[in-house]
Amino acid sequence: MTCSESKVLLLVSMSALLWLLFLAFAGFVRPAPAMATSDFLYKNIFILAGQSNMAGRGGVVDNKWDGIVPFQCQPNPSILRLDAGLRWVRAAEPLHADIEHNKTSGVGPGMAFANAVKSKDSSIGVIGLVPCAVGGTNISEWMKGNHLYEQMVRRAQAALQEGGTIQAILWYQGESDTENREDAMTYKRRMVKLIADWRADLQSPNLRIIQVVLASGMGPFVGIVRRGQLGIDQPNVVSVDAMGLPLEEDGLHLTTAAQVRLGQMLANAFLNGMPSSPSTSNAQRICYPFFC
Ligand SMILES: *[C@@H]1O[C@H](CO)[C@@H](O)[C@H](O)[C@H]1NC(C)=O
Ligand SMILES: *[C@@H]1O[C@H](CO)[C@@H](O)[C@H](O)[C@H]1NC(C)=O
Repeated sequence: MTCSESKVLLLVSMSALLWLLFLAFAGFVRPAPAMATSDFLYKNIFILAGQSNMAGRGGVVDNKWDGIVPFQCQPNPSILRLDAGLRWVRAAEPLHADIEHNKTSGVGPGMAFANAVKSKDSSIGVIGLVPCAVGGTNISEWMKGNHLYEQMVRRAQAALQEGGTIQAILWYQGESDTENREDAMTYKRRMVKLIADWRADLQSPNLRIIQVVLASGMGPFVGIVRRGQLGIDQPNVVSVDAMGLPLEEDGLHLTTAAQVRLGQMLANAFLNGMPSSPSTSNAQRICYPFFC
């Protein structure tokens, strides 16, 4: 091998090495998918399910959202949401925009809830919201075997993939079951079954359920559904009563201000356990990963 030949060889192998180094490095600095840094963080996961008042109609008039986001509902780098494509992204109003097809989502309780939990418990870490609510749905459509149930369980399982615990299901539904007496009368029985199925399928027998007791309805039997909700006597089921919160002109949907208030009430219910429940002895200490 001549001197110039070995120089060429050296040059070729050096550039090959550099190229390999470049490829290896490029592998690490590829454009990051949304929220890559938070993906593998432990998350306190909350499932948001139910119908329009959970999905959020605050600020929606004539199928248009006014775009007003109160400061209690502003995004925070450690509040994420699982989007319709099962990716964690930074949460922002309207939380259900890509979950509800062909409906106009506005402000719901989710962001106000997450911000209130964070402000009352700064040690909580990352909150992962899993929006699943769809407007106009009755409880039959949420029962096991039906699409909404399966979709919710699938999203809940996907949310757990990269670390975390489902801390609670926040449930606000029943307005559609106030239209006929029969549905209103069977609400409690259906809800008890739904809770049992969730807990079985999510393998979390003590999973906390925070249910909102109706403020309004689409029919005359709101009182019967409310009585059913308040009569559910199960461990780790907490009720938050929305009655009296301000409604939009439609008389059905909570206003943005009401949703902020509701989010704070849900946060208090979550952080305080179940003071009003007869089964307080079943209350578990809320345990956060880095502090217990
Ligand atoms: C949404 O609306 C479009 C057009 O009106 C319709 O084709 C589609 O099936 C609707 N999707 C759902 C999920 O209802
Ligand atoms: C619930 O809603 C579905 C879809 O709109 C409807 O087909 C069904 O009859 C309703 N069920 C009850 C019990 O109201």
